Amino acid sequence: MFQIQHASPRVGSIIRTTKEDMVKGTYAAEINRLLTERSALVFPQMHLTIEEQLAFASTIGEVFLVGGKEVQKVSMDPEINPVADYTRGAFYWHIDGANDNVPAKATMLNCRIPLLIGATVYYIEGMSFEEGRGLLCRLQEFATQPQYVYRHKWSVGDFLLFDNTGTMHKAAAYELNSKRLMERTMLHGEESIA
Ligand SMILES: [Fe+2]
Repeated sequence: MFQIQHASPRVGSIIRTTKEDMVKGTYAAEINRLLTERSALVFPQMHLTIEEQLAFASTIGEVFLVGGKEVQKVSMDPEINPVADYTRGAFYWHIDGANDNVPAKATMLNCRIPLLIGATVYYIEGMSFEEGRGLLCRLQEFATQPQYVYRHKWSVGDFLLFDNTGTMHKAAAYELNSKRLMERTMLHGEESIA
């Protein structure tokens, strides 16, 4: 099974498929094509285990280790995430690994614990990062117009994949002491931006 429903005309698609097909890579080529075309792909209520998440990741790319780990716990709670202070940067538009020579091609998030209300992440169509700051600001204003933004309300088990170098993303504001928890895996980049 592989059904595609566009979340908006420009960005974001909802994919309905099975765990089995994700893990086996049955639609890996299609998923890679959609990732570039649609920027953000949502797989609702998949409830993937960490092993399934990694198996799926390796069907569409090569897993990129962060701090030696294939899966990072993304939380603002310092008890869960030792770099919670740094993670607060996620409230601003960014790409992951912007300081790496070759930033991750894609990032995937598996929702373990959503917020009770309004758990959201946004994704938008991308831009060049070689421009000056002023231009970046104007570009950011342009690129974050509603028609280029996909906003996701998280439910437990949602799995979301986004094109990291073709888009920016941010976490919508939420309480730092909330128990919101995502498990993140990144894929090795293919393009240098340095
Ligand atoms: Fe991020």
